[in-house]
Amino acid sequence: MDDEHAAARLRTALVNRLRAGGSVRTEAVAQALLSVPRELFTPGSTSLTRSYEDRVVVLYTDESGMADSTVSQPAMVALMLEQLDVRPGARILEIGTGSGYNTALLAHLAGPDGEVVSIEMSPELAGSAARRLAGIGVHPDVRTGDGWAGVADRAPFDRIEATVGVPDLPPAWVEQLAPDGVLVTPLWLRPGLELAVAWRRAAGGTLTSVSVTPCGFLQLRGPHAGPGRTHALTGELAVMGDELPAAALDVLRELLDRGAVDAGPVLGEVESRVTGFALAEPRTVLFLGHPGDETTWGLFDPERPALAVLARGRVVVYGDLDAATELYYGVAGAPYVDADRLRVEAVPAGTAFGDAPFSDGRSWTVERAQFRYRLTEM
Ligand SMILES: C[S@@+](CC[C@H](N)C(=O)[O-])C[C@H]1O[C@@H](n2cnc3c(N)ncnc32)[C@H](O)[C@@H]1O
Repeated sequence: MDDEHAAARLRTALVNRLRAGGSVRTEAVAQALLSVPRELFTPGSTSLTRSYEDRVVVLYTDESGMADSTVSQPAMVALMLEQLDVRPGARILEIGTGSGYNTALLAHLAGPDGEVVSIEMSPELAGSAARRLAGIGVHPDVRTGDGWAGVADRAPFDRIEATVGVPDLPPAWVEQLAPDGVLVTPLWLRPGLELAVAWRRAAGGTLTSVSVTPCGFLQLRGPHAGPGRTHALTGELAVMGDELPAAALDVLRELLDRGAVDAGPVLGEVESRVTGFALAEPRTVLFLGHPGDETTWGLFDPERPALAVLARGRVVVYGDLDAATELYYGVAGAPYVDADRLRVEAVPAGTAFGDAPFSDGRSWTVERAQFRYRLTEM
């Protein structure tokens, strides 16, 4: 009983913090968070207090120790539920059941007349999530399978929420969305730029974002995962990039072995311009995890071959020296882009956008196998 009171107090405190931080905006989402005991969905968590910190909890790791499943950070969970805009009675599909925590929140938002279907790749996770949910009296339809294909036999859905990231929209999610439905999904666009996008269908079938929020999610697994985005290079160094097949990674390792030339200081503040640079430049890479180093941005061209990186206020180059100039002027000339203020539209790959970008702001196009994306500054 004491634990229950303590948990209720911690839940209230968490919701108050999320309201103050702007991730909880509506009473409906606040009430959902206040009613679901997160501690029952965070088995790896060491204490009750830990379950109510605004932090990710790792649920399951693969053989190499990388997280395969996590209970997402409460602020992110709340932001995406606000984006999803669930109405009582809604038919909802969730992709990536994980612990079942978000499934419980969705069930609360949809209410007794709603329906929640949730699909999870791992049978163990799906099973334990279903048991936890039943333990609090929630009985969604939890399926085991590849969420890339959606759940066709329960479609259409008023709301679809993916809690796992994709570099391209799976066509089934779009097909299984009701005509006036909302689809919320983390969309990886470039290294360091992943957006949780709330999509609605606009005239002519184009998908248009009604809101976006920067995020960082585990990548969808399975045969349709697409190329991995984070690659181990050496013991502690990993790189993220858009197109880095094994042969390109070999070239990158060779370049790093050759050693670097210091090409001089970076003048002015560059961090705020990197998103603008990355949007226009598919060769952008982001290095992670060098001990003691900050994250390092760069430009990698396996054809030349060359790698130029921004490291501690300097441009450092491996291979063809011209890459340093290209990176320096590319970043210096890039616009400042506020990721929160991007509008995203999608049309099937190979088709054109019906009209010009909706504002006279800057726009960028990102091509993927299934869809073509246009990002425009609001
Ligand atoms: C960030 S976790 C989801 C968090 C979850 N919503 C919660 O509240 O605990 C992402 C989940 O997606 C699952 N997943 C990854 N690829 C999948 C796929 N192709 N189909 C279904 N689930 C997948 C992972 O196993 C993992 O449990």
